Amino acid sequence: MVNVDVHVNYVHAQWSSRWVFVLAATGSAVGLGNIWKFPYMVGQGGGGAFVLVYLICIVLIGIPIMMSEVLLGRRARRSPVNTMRLLAQDEGASPAWQFVGWLGMATGFLILSFYSVVAGWTLAYVFRTASGLFAMENPERIKALFGVFVTDPQQVLAWHTLFMMMTTIIVARGVRAGLERAVKFMMPVLFILLLALVFYSMGSGGFDAGFEFLFHTDFNKLTPAVILGAMGQAFFSLSLGMGAILIYGSYLPQQSSIAGSTFMIVIADTVIALLAGLAVFPIVFANGLEPGAGPALIFETLPIAFGQMPGGLFWGTLFFVLLVFAAWTSAISLIEPAVAWLTETRGLGRVISAVLTGGLAWLLGILTIMSFSDWAFSFRFLGVEKTNGFFDIFDLLTTNITLPLGGILIALFAGWKIQRDHSREELTLRSHAGFEMWLFLTRFVSPVLVGVLLFYLLFGHYFNA
Ligand code: PHE
Repeated sequence: MVNVDVHVNYVHAQWSSRWVFVLAATGSAVGLGNIWKFPYMVGQGGGGAFVLVYLICIVLIGIPIMMSEVLLGRRARRSPVNTMRLLAQDEGASPAWQFVGWLGMATGFLILSFYSVVAGWTLAYVFRTASGLFAMENPERIKALFGVFVTDPQQVLAWHTLFMMMTTIIVARGVRAGLERAVKFMMPVLFILLLALVFYSMGSGGFDAGFEFLFHTDFNKLTPAVILGAMGQAFFSLSLGMGAILIYGSYLPQQSSIAGSTFMIVIADTVIALLAGLAVFPIVFANGLEPGAGPALIFETLPIAFGQMPGGLFWGTLFFVLLVFAAWTSAISLIEPAVAWLTETRGLGRVISAVLTGGLAWLLGILTIMSFSDWAFSFRFLGVEKTNGFFDIFDLLTTNITLPLGGILIALFAGWKIQRDHSREELTLRSHAGFEMWLFLTRFVSPVLVGVLLFYLLFGHYFNA
């Protein structure tokens, strides 16, 4: 029995069309995760083995869970916390489901805290590239320049602060004026520039080695840390498991196709990650660099290419500008769930809500900044040495644990708690087989796969020690 009017949107605006939703969700998905994180995770995770697990996760887990998030959001048209609360009430499920929304908000803060720091590095690299710092420099020196920069907390803090202010301003302006305008032109340009970089890499002399590294699967490299990392990266890169896609779905006009939009977002995100890999690794191998360099990887490799190519000053600057934009359109989606919740439940305006949430993430970000200098400490996770203290903790906790956990819960809720007729009606899938396929993946495949992997990889060593 439907006793709550879940279809009426009282609080928030809507996207002006389905295309804007696709752009915005692509803007959320495509970001530092594709261009900064994917290459260095591949580099640390032994190349093709990581990529294979990643691609399998995108198809079997990413697509059904993304459809589920959009479905839930559009049905309730509220922040993740209230969406889960209302739908649970509507479907006669436990109110405890709203925990998913809380977990997502907490995850969003943690991710944004380090995301903004890395986006700050990117901002700094716009100006460093434009100033000609990297022109004709050798790889050793480019690496050293990054090392000096990242261990200087005051400088990094300034860039982190600037980026967080940029994010807060856009979020404060709201769905139409802020989010929508920001994404419309940036995505296509970024794509073209990446293609140009791949083109450059093809002539760098390392293309074959880079290609081989990305696509040749060595199954011996499939360690627990690599598998968990690849699954987590699928969630991170698609912005899944914390409510970002759910809240964007809640602004989606009623008649738009959820499946079609999801495919476009997923394809764009995957292609851009692979292109980033094809741009970075040839440069790594052509210059005898270390693929496992970690978070520093793109800041140590791409400036080499820009320093050498004709017009590199211009292209390099433009590239980092676009990467800032890509990060920006992702960052806004990380706090949008919390902002929407504050405006709905606390009656606060968007401006105050954005400042409060941005401020909290900014404060947390200081822990990441210090992780690269004075407060660095190391620990082991699944047998892998981690050296950047709080940054690594926040990253592992979100990417490898809370996003997949949120994803499982979202799939279980959409698959088992929402009545079939309701999900069918919301998804508006024309084909019956398509709907059954989604239901099967959502009910069984993704929660079981993620659940088993999560449990086994985190706790497995207690059993077969
Ligand atoms: N998907 C974004 C990226 O790849 C990061 C992100 C994660 C954004 C989770 C929102 C939610 O850069």
